[in-house]
Amino acid sequence: MKITLIGTGYVGLVTGTCLAEVGNDVLCLDVDPRKIDLLKSGGIPIFEPGLDDLVRRNVAAGRLQFTTDIEAAVHFGDIQFIAVGTPPDEDGSADLQYVTAAARNIGRHMTGYKLVVDKSTVPVGTADRVRAAIREELGSRGVDIDFSVASNPEFLKEGAAIEDFMKPDRIVIGTDNEQATQLLRRLYAPFQRNHERLVTMDIRSAELTKYAANAMLATRISFMNELAVLAEKLGADIELVRQGIGSDPRIGYHFLYAGCGYGGSCFPKDVQALRRTAEESGAPLRVLNAVEEANEAQKSVLITKLKARFGEALAGRRFALWGLAFKPNTDDMREAPSRVMMEALWAMGASVTAYDPAAMEETHRIYGDRPDLTLVDTPMKALADADALLIVTEWKAFRSPDFAAMKSLLKAPVIFDGRNLYDPATIQREGFEYYPIGRRV
Ligand code: NAI
Repeated sequence: MKITLIGTGYVGLVTGTCLAEVGNDVLCLDVDPRKIDLLKSGGIPIFEPGLDDLVRRNVAAGRLQFTTDIEAAVHFGDIQFIAVGTPPDEDGSADLQYVTAAARNIGRHMTGYKLVVDKSTVPVGTADRVRAAIREELGSRGVDIDFSVASNPEFLKEGAAIEDFMKPDRIVIGTDNEQATQLLRRLYAPFQRNHERLVTMDIRSAELTKYAANAMLATRISFMNELAVLAEKLGADIELVRQGIGSDPRIGYHFLYAGCGYGGSCFPKDVQALRRTAEESGAPLRVLNAVEEANEAQKSVLITKLKARFGEALAGRRFALWGLAFKPNTDDMREAPSRVMMEALWAMGASVTAYDPAAMEETHRIYGDRPDLTLVDTPMKALADADALLIVTEWKAFRSPDFAAMKSLLKAPVIFDGRNLYDPATIQREGFEYYPIGRRV
């Protein structure tokens, strides 16, 4: 099939590449010429394990191309995926300007039937807006061309995006006609494995499904984070509690880890957007207010512990940070807890030496050169002369470090662990003062 991806970000590039990998002809469009130039010259604008090889292979095979030419992109694909960003508006609702612009472009240039698929995470009712925008453009051209709009939200996780796309748990498809369902069924046939993965439904339910999934996951995290705070107060250990409840199949072990808060490009904005939708619809999701509030508080938990240990006047002190990306295996810093922590430390006069396996460039892009931030290229270098270490992202590389070497580098052997990477008894035997989240020390 001939497919156009409108928006060549995380989701657009991964989707386009994986669809090319199974034999489709794919053209990825973006309005950002730097991104497209980089892709055309063999570069990859994002860090995502396995993506570079897959892009190169499909470009070489002639199945994957990149363009900034909107008209050519609209003409190319029988299926037009909209995979542009839907960032939060000032009031928290999803800003649909990019989605609408993409829809208008389709209406402006289409000359034959198109199946337009919303892959961006969009509020319920967006398919209607996309349809209206296309109709309006067709109307102003004085033409009447058949098209359909469908919803196909994306559930891939950054850091495991290729695996998630190639071997999905489920593929949600919301349509209002059989032709669209059949086209998408054909497109996704290569990704069906030993049992049916396609969940077909009406468009509004599909749109809501994506928000419901992210809100449910964020709720689990915030609940565990609040339980961890409580466990500390009560002298209990959240890790033992996790094992105790996770064994119940109705609860399950996944996504039950206490930590220093969730971040990223999806959970924070999707929780906010769903809250707004719910409020506007007169059916507020009260639970989500607490989920957000708890997460905001949790991003400061390590700093609270640090202030209790070192006081609030931190001028002249230096802290080491391991992990800057909002989660492992990505360079994404959007809403990352590390940012809240670094900014709090700077506000108290401290300086930071930080290391991340993937997000150093991104950190430099965000903060530039500043005297109170030093970026180093190994975890150990970050420790030299630091008053303490803060662990913010659970990269595998941080899980079994050389404790003796760490002790000799740090000014004092103090670790604030926002991801509970170590066994408290072991690390204390190694001679560290250890501040994990919700664990008994
Ligand atoms: P992104 O910001 O990485 O990429 C969006 C791209 O769209 C940018 O390159 C931008 O230049 C381009 N763009 C904007 N307007 C355009 C237009 N009119 N025509 C062509 N290109 C245009 O965003 P990302 O992370 O890929 O997210 C896209 C959507 O997918 C969002 O709604 C997001 O919530 C959703 N999503 C994101 C996931 C993730 O892990 N990043 C996972 C699942 C869904």
